[in-house]
Amino acid sequence: MKIRNIDLGPRPVLLAPMEDVTDIGFRLLCRSLGASMVYSEFVASDALVRMVGKSLDKLRVSPDERPVAIQIYGKDPIAMRDAAQIVVEKAHPDVLDLNFGCPVKRVAGKGAGAGLLQNIPLLLDITRHVVDAVSVPVTAKTRLGWDSEHLVITSLAEQLQDCGIEALTIHGRTRAQMYQGQADHSLIGEVRRNPRIHIPIIANGDIADGKTAQRLFDDLGVDAVMVGRATFGCPWIFKEIRDHLDGTSLDVSQAISTDAAPLSDAWKLAVLKQQVNLSVERCGERSGILHSRRHLAATPLFKGIPDFRPLRIAILRAETTEELFALMDEAFQKLCAAREHKPNV
Ligand SMILES: Cc1cc2nc3c(=O)[nH]c(=O)nc-3n(C[C@H](O)[C@H](O)[C@H](O)COP(=O)(O)O)c2cc1C
Repeated sequence: MKIRNIDLGPRPVLLAPMEDVTDIGFRLLCRSLGASMVYSEFVASDALVRMVGKSLDKLRVSPDERPVAIQIYGKDPIAMRDAAQIVVEKAHPDVLDLNFGCPVKRVAGKGAGAGLLQNIPLLLDITRHVVDAVSVPVTAKTRLGWDSEHLVITSLAEQLQDCGIEALTIHGRTRAQMYQGQADHSLIGEVRRNPRIHIPIIANGDIADGKTAQRLFDDLGVDAVMVGRATFGCPWIFKEIRDHLDGTSLDVSQAISTDAAPLSDAWKLAVLKQQVNLSVERCGERSGILHSRRHLAATPLFKGIPDFRPLRIAILRAETTEELFALMDEAFQKLCAAREHKPNV
């Protein structure tokens, strides 16, 4: 699959943009474990045009993570246009993505993100302003519609394509659903089957294993899949999905320095420690550990350890890397003991 001349290979699996999650360290890790392309968290266009340092920091890109998309959001066409130019000048992203799907009140409630699904003319005006202003491919990410009464995606996809969007990611929920219920991929398939649509269609929402990804490629014909929450504490999901789709084993020997076999529990522990180390290197010990907590809380590695709760709480309260790694080692020992006792834990 290609976005303009960026070749993402057959059946690409992408890392979704996620605020406070898809920083440069996590993106690099996911790329090294099989993600075909990665997205930055969204960056506010009005903060970029005011050159707010924290927002400019989010534009840092490493050559090793390419292809990478930087995503911006906002509701003012001029600010979005100017922010897009700033992003291209400072980060040289492979792709510039427009957020038309964020459901949270502080964004959608103010008319940006998914809020623009209630004002399609403005959404299209923003898109045209950005497409005309930058030379990199512009893509968009959105939802099925504002609510179940307004499932606009079929016509919106055509309109966005007509504005010059070069790929469209669709999260199979409405804004009203927020993150509730099961994602519905059927309308994504409908968009894909529309003979007028020639841009790549990327499916998103509740893709957490190779089987689901394969079904979306085979049955709905989507061009790529995008994985979000299932990456929390589980960046190896890209290798798992890749191995399933390709029927081979992706070589990840360069990604993690350990002798443990890829996808073994010992290897996964090494991946998680590397993730913490990357975070600590980037933000300092305290913030780096804080930043890793979401992943440590969600990781499937420690699932099934008997009486894990007190140790889990201790892991989530650890304040130094040394303390944290000792607790993670203890959890790992408990996991090994539980597996010996009951091999399918
Ligand atoms: C913590 C968090 C932050 C998110 N931030 C963004 C964002 O910055 N931009 C965006 O387009 N979507 C964002 N999303 C939505 C995801 O990209 C994705 O569309 C959604 O989680 C559904 O996919 P999933 O079921 O694979 O998680 C975020 C989701 C989560 C859980």
